[in-house]
Amino acid sequence: MSTKKDTVLVSGGAGYIGTHTTVALAEAGYDVVVIDNFSNSEPSAIEGVEKILGRKICFKQVDTCDKEALRGVFERHDFSTVIHFAAYKAVGESVSEPLKYYQNNLVSYMNVLELMKEYKRPNVLFSSSATVYGNADVLPVTEKTPRQDATSPYGNTKQIAEDILRDCCHAYEGFHGIALRYFNPIGAHPSSLIGELPRGVPNNLVPFITQTAAGIRERLSIFGNDYDTPDGTCLRDYIDVVDLAKAHVAAVDRMTEGKMEAGYEIFNVGTGTPLSVLELVNRFMAANGVNVPYVITDRRDGDVPAVWADTTTANNVLGWKAERDIDDTLRSAWAWEKHVRSL
Ligand code: UFG
Repeated sequence: MSTKKDTVLVSGGAGYIGTHTTVALAEAGYDVVVIDNFSNSEPSAIEGVEKILGRKICFKQVDTCDKEALRGVFERHDFSTVIHFAAYKAVGESVSEPLKYYQNNLVSYMNVLELMKEYKRPNVLFSSSATVYGNADVLPVTEKTPRQDATSPYGNTKQIAEDILRDCCHAYEGFHGIALRYFNPIGAHPSSLIGELPRGVPNNLVPFITQTAAGIRERLSIFGNDYDTPDGTCLRDYIDVVDLAKAHVAAVDRMTEGKMEAGYEIFNVGTGTPLSVLELVNRFMAANGVNVPYVITDRRDGDVPAVWADTTTANNVLGWKAERDIDDTLRSAWAWEKHVRSL
């Protein structure tokens, strides 16, 4: 006999990682309440989730910056756990519009935490980022690797939010928090019904690659090949978004089953394997049998030469490991791009 699992509130659940996580939670037996204000997502994302699950989900269009609207969600739904994705995420835009980022990312987060305290909802899972490690001296980075000064307001909101969560877990009896530090999420659900939907010109590598392969962009610019890395291009840890979604389920299991060893825990969510920009582009072309024209251009401001995860703690303590083959991930990214173009 299976025991009933808790209900989870997913803020920003129509976004790229939010949709994949909602599917993974529902498949794992959690009841899910999803909210999003569609500021950087589309209602079609929720339809994609519902098609995959074969049923309607509980969705409300709510802006987490609107505390009274958010209060209504706390009044109506009895969830124990919140996964807080709702945030802006464009690094470059955060540099030119810092107040927009601090206002949105921190006010929405404070609203969530204050209401959790008020309504005695004990567990919060926060979407953090490998950006907190900056240009680390020693690689791969472990959770104990010192964070470095943020190089963008976006990165700073991640650091501040981690610290707020740590302090809340320390101060409030029964309050538990996990921060997942994502490396570079890529790929899409195998159904091609959900995936990343960048607005305008993509900032991130894989959406730019898929749009170039689709002929929407003339060519990819590879930002620098004179780094101190094996082929001169930057090294990153590309984590499949479905694997990443499963890390959230493992973290929610850990919180709701009372398995946490401390009030606040941090886990790196990556593969542990670095790949260069050039390697990724070449593997994408080989896996999909398509051409991606590219040129080497100047370095992009703010890029670190290399960062990848030590995943020992995620593997051994969280009990989660990245599984999907990178070529399958790159095929899923291309399948998703073709799906989007066919709509
Ligand atoms: N790159 C290119 N051309 C492009 C886009 C990217 O060469 O058109 C290169 C970048 O220079 C970098 C790599 O591809 O070396 C990955 O770049 P992304 O923009 O895809 O990802 P980042 O590593 O810069 O940033 C990502 C997330 C951030 C997060 C960070 C944490 O986008 O939100 O990882 O390390 F903070």
